[in-house]
Amino acid sequence: MKKKVYIETYGCQMNVADSELVATILNGEGYELTKDINSADVIFVNTCAVREHAEQRVLSRLDYFNTFKKKKPAVKIGVLGCMAERMRQSIFEQKPFVDIVAGPDSYRNLPQMIETTESGQKAVNIILSKEETYEGILPTRYDSNGLSAFISIMRGCDNMCSFCIVPFTRGRERSRSVDSILEETSQIVKDGFKEITLIGQNVDKYIYKDVNFAKLLALVADEAKDLRIRFATSYPQHFTEEVVKVMADKPNVCHYIHLPVQSGSNRMLELMKRGYTREWYLDKIKMIRDYVPDAAISTDIIAGFCGETEEDHKDTLRLMEEVAFDYAYMFKYSERPGTYAAKNLKDDVPEEVKLRRLNEIIALQRQLSEQSNIKDVGKTFKVLVEGVSKKSKDEFFGRNSQNKVIVFPKGNTKKGNLIDVKVTGYTSATLRGEII
Ligand code: SAH
Ligand code: F3S
Repeated sequence: MKKKVYIETYGCQMNVADSELVATILNGEGYELTKDINSADVIFVNTCAVREHAEQRVLSRLDYFNTFKKKKPAVKIGVLGCMAERMRQSIFEQKPFVDIVAGPDSYRNLPQMIETTESGQKAVNIILSKEETYEGILPTRYDSNGLSAFISIMRGCDNMCSFCIVPFTRGRERSRSVDSILEETSQIVKDGFKEITLIGQNVDKYIYKDVNFAKLLALVADEAKDLRIRFATSYPQHFTEEVVKVMADKPNVCHYIHLPVQSGSNRMLELMKRGYTREWYLDKIKMIRDYVPDAAISTDIIAGFCGETEEDHKDTLRLMEEVAFDYAYMFKYSERPGTYAAKNLKDDVPEEVKLRRLNEIIALQRQLSEQSNIKDVGKTFKVLVEGVSKKSKDEFFGRNSQNKVIVFPKGNTKKGNLIDVKVTGYTSATLRGEII
């Protein structure tokens, strides 16, 4: 009988894509995936190390996994991904029942690692690679909605933003070959998906031979003409006009850009080693709006980074208003051991000040999102029907090109259709509409 593997995934889309690779690697070695943790022989948790809070959650989750091992001692527990890379052997000290610690470049070895643990030994592989892109392994999209597929086009990050652990946990930047990306694209088309998202920590730095990100985006858009194409994450310093032109030219490239700014203060941006200024960022926003006036723009913001003053914080609020972001992911600064900031700067903004600033940022974004939604009332959008609304079984929800969620009465349509929906109302979080 095949052994059953249960995988739980935390963190970014990259981790979701990595878990899909792990699924393929294990399937090929005689394991099968299960969604039922009770029946699992192997329990994997794919982890994020970007903020301490995310790590704490996983650590307490591990105790829960241990309750299954207590009932069935043959169960193996493995920590995968960024926390494995950051914490290394110290995971075994904190959680002695863990059997496997596997960093993001070690997944081809997972079958052997599981085997090693059969005799009661621990297995660790935290070697980072300069080449591994998991070329030749087609992801098993076991948890997808059947409509939306991620393609990981590059791995790692060389940017070394001073607050960020990712360059340490995911290693050096490397791009996958164009051919393997296009092969995966055509497979996704054959499998009936409706939307592709090209992902990497910093997609603007994709480069394979003479193909840069803009060219790759155009190639994928042509290969999958009837599918929507999205991408994430863009980086202000490297984001190019060429990419925006592809967005303007190719009808199936969605009008949505996630462009993390982190702070509106030049002093903070410098300490964060982001490599751009507030003015540079605003220029990029203007460039996007010149080519694609209806593009939605979202961002990431960190509140309370080292040395942040009230004035720096106000610069962030002012920048948010100036750009009028459609959406934002907002965080309190969390010091990560080993980063430039942890070694050289003081995490000196008191916790309650961080929290108050974060709350001000969240409150402002709520207003901005609402204003953005008000402007959509009366407009008609192409919406990809993604499923039944959580709140009412008589309604569907879907997304428009700008990545906004629209809820509408079911009518005669079905999941997977691309239909015209006219917006009739809004909240700060969603739009309401009707099929026309
Ligand atoms: N380029 C990546 C960014 C990964 S981290 C991507 O693919 O999205 C995602 C976001 O987490 C960052 O943009 C930043 O806003 C936030 N973040 C990173 N390190 C952090 C830290 N130490 N404390 C708080 N937030 C952090
Ligand atoms: Fe992190 Fe900056 Fe790279 S936020 S993932 S070091 S672009």
